[in-house]
Amino acid sequence: MIGLKESDTIESIIIENAWNFSQEKEKLMHSIHSYPAKFPAFIASKAFEYAEEEGVDVQCVADIFCGCGTVALEAKLHSKHFWGCDINPVAILIAKTKNSEYSIEKFNDYYQEIKKRFFSMDLSDVQYENANIRLQYWFSRERFLDVLRLKRSVMMSISKDDIYLNAFLCVLSSILKGASRWLTKSIKPQVDPDKSPKDVWYLFDRQCQKFLQAIAQIQQYYYQHKDVNMICKNFLEITKLPKVDMIVSSPPYVTSYEYADLHQLSSLWLDYAEDYRTLRQGSIGSLYNSEEVQLENIPLNPVGLSIVQDLKNKQGFNRKVRAVARYYADIERAISKCAKMLNTGGMALFVVGDTEYKGVKIRNAEHLICCLRENGFSNLKASKRKISNKLLTPYRDKEGRFSSDKRQREIYHEEFVISGRMDFQ
Ligand SMILES: C[S@@+](CC[C@H](N)C(=O)[O-])C[C@H]1O[C@@H](n2cnc3c(N)ncnc32)[C@H](O)[C@@H]1O
Repeated sequence: MIGLKESDTIESIIIENAWNFSQEKEKLMHSIHSYPAKFPAFIASKAFEYAEEEGVDVQCVADIFCGCGTVALEAKLHSKHFWGCDINPVAILIAKTKNSEYSIEKFNDYYQEIKKRFFSMDLSDVQYENANIRLQYWFSRERFLDVLRLKRSVMMSISKDDIYLNAFLCVLSSILKGASRWLTKSIKPQVDPDKSPKDVWYLFDRQCQKFLQAIAQIQQYYYQHKDVNMICKNFLEITKLPKVDMIVSSPPYVTSYEYADLHQLSSLWLDYAEDYRTLRQGSIGSLYNSEEVQLENIPLNPVGLSIVQDLKNKQGFNRKVRAVARYYADIERAISKCAKMLNTGGMALFVVGDTEYKGVKIRNAEHLICCLRENGFSNLKASKRKISNKLLTPYRDKEGRFSSDKRQREIYHEEFVISGRMDFQ
């Protein structure tokens, strides 16, 4: 990490191999459920190591946009207390599941009970006729009825306050795209008319086996028990925040991922919403949160303002430009709340990527650095990392599918790791 002076430009930040990849293989528990823009787990452990080298006594860690709980699980594995928050209920389900402690025997017992129920339950076609219209859109009658049988079998086999309910609902959630007409690996909700969705029990069974392998691998760390607390809330609306030694987080990107839309199958099946669109509310970076934004009365720092002005000059103050303005205002509020969460000498470390829209550079890293400075962070340092692994391949084809073809549209190929200290002398 190189120190950033006021006069340094973003171009002076260099790529450091240490943030690019890790020799150690990621724990299987990290991949029990896919999650858009999940970052590699080693970034979290590398961040703890870096903070400790810099003299921070990291006992308690927070991730204000904790997503599927990557930082949470690494904090647990490194024997640190953790506090996390995410507005997306599906994220919190995955994060809680990954951070609970399960026994193989008990998981297997529940699995057998669910299986028995699943294969003996009869459901009538009326269930499909009366189903949520959105679920009818995504699922064939046969697959819908199988998912319903599975959900009911899970709910009947495990009581509400039992941590195994989360585990099996998480497994169920992870197979929904495969069992539906959802275009495989698409970053936009899109039907694949040629798809033959796989058998529901086959998918569930396969995923349960993966989950069992993940438990077997991670069980040896269960003795290092520390507090792990994760809540499903809008971070900007939380009034009582904990004090921590370190924040490690990757903020949402602007208008790239509509988390509510991408998780609509899970939200509908798990009864998080009658209409998944209601879950867009408050989600930072969403295109749907910008109706009332006026440039005159949205507080922005100089970098945020200059990006929005550039966009406005090219595009007018259209919906997307309003969403960018709202996004920067939200990120500024989030960073000011982070400043209040840190103990004296504490460190915040963020991973962000720049992007481009209609020829205007969306300078997220520079904006974040400006937010940190304006909120009293000092000793700012930064590094750049290459995103080169297969999952995060930076190219997308016309349909929005990931592609390794370098002639396709490039999205993010590098991202920045930026740290700052609070009240650091
Ligand atoms: C880049 S992702 C974080 C991914 C995470 N690092 C992981 O490995 O899974 C950003 C997250 O911010 C969440 N988010 C967006 N707006 C939020 C808000 N107002 N409050 C809390 N979380 C929010 C999204 O739901 C998403 O999970």
